[in-house]
Amino acid sequence: MPPVTESNPPPSRMSAVARPGARILGVGHYVPERVLTNADLEKMVETTDAWITERTGIRERHVAAPGEVTSDMAAEAARRAMAKAGITAADVDMIIVGTISGDSPMPACAAHVQQKIGAKHCPAFDVSAACAGFLYGLSIADRFVRTGGAKYVVVVGVELLSRILDWTDRTTCVLFGDGAGAVVVGPTTEEEAEAGRGILSTHLFTDGSLANALLIPGGGSKEPFSAKVLEDRRHLVHMTGQDVFKAAVRYLAASARTALEANHLTPGELDWVVAHQANMRILSALSQRVEIPMERFFINIHKYGNTSSASIPIALDEALTEERIKPGQTVLMCALGAGISWGSALIRW
Ligand code: UT7
Repeated sequence: MPPVTESNPPPSRMSAVARPGARILGVGHYVPERVLTNADLEKMVETTDAWITERTGIRERHVAAPGEVTSDMAAEAARRAMAKAGITAADVDMIIVGTISGDSPMPACAAHVQQKIGAKHCPAFDVSAACAGFLYGLSIADRFVRTGGAKYVVVVGVELLSRILDWTDRTTCVLFGDGAGAVVVGPTTEEEAEAGRGILSTHLFTDGSLANALLIPGGGSKEPFSAKVLEDRRHLVHMTGQDVFKAAVRYLAASARTALEANHLTPGELDWVVAHQANMRILSALSQRVEIPMERFFINIHKYGNTSSASIPIALDEALTEERIKPGQTVLMCALGAGISWGSALIRW
């Protein structure tokens, strides 16, 4: 048993009061102004509005302006989340950015975000877990806040995928969009902890045997950037859609069940599912598998497409702004993407 210190009180004291937890104090999002519709895509590749809508649920997506970079979008989402949380840049103890499409391979996109929001010297780093990047960041933030290692952590999910998509490949280019979402994670008050509010659990997983199902093959140590990589378009996103689809349905359902079981909740006790917006058919299949009706899923895929790590915080912000999620309600979040990496988080708002 570790020695008893101020930061490590004896078990009896810890169980006498509700354990301090972490919660989301503010949420913000940003999407670029320009909208690319399915009709626009019909003029660019051999596709139809009907195919995209029926197979994915996507009607339009936002695309960054020339000159706009990933950290610009991330910083704007972070500023909006900080304003809602009522904190300033001086309060920020840590910045975590979930992204696979940062400003450049090095340094971390989070370093640019720190500079742009005016925070000083706090650790700022990226998490590479693709579409699950926001949940990975949230899980790290939860643990830092819970253990007192940080008071206020800004977690951003951001992707500027339009610059790394192959705009000649109809199997990928119609699916994705640009955007950013952010949250501020901070400590619960004693009353909130006693009422059981806050981040109740996070669970993260990776199945590396499916690493090649969704990847950017070129530009790293395996296939260093070269004229050949460029010519073969291997610096852009490649996906075996059906493999990812099957994994998504199976693993998202499993991670949803894990979250419910860990919190002794039944699907009926869940108020909202704010899941990664990759494909309407994946969400429907998830709804059936975990027996949670679609009415309790927050959906905005038709407006933004798949914004990867940004999709959950964008959806969360819209659900809160529209006053769909209310204090005390339970919210399940789950996401899956390249890796294959996935996870879930359960929150009592
Ligand atoms: O966020 C990260 C995780 N990513 C995902 O979760 C994505 C998971 N995968 C999916 O959502 C789906 O697999 C896709 C939407 C990518 C594809 O849907 P699908 O129902 O699996 O289509 P498919 O790949 O089986 O293709 C069916 C047909 C093919 O034609 P043939 O071989 O049957 O003649 C494709 O060539 O649809 C064709 N197709 C298209 N047709 C019109 C593929 N893309 C398009 C397109 N427009 N954009």
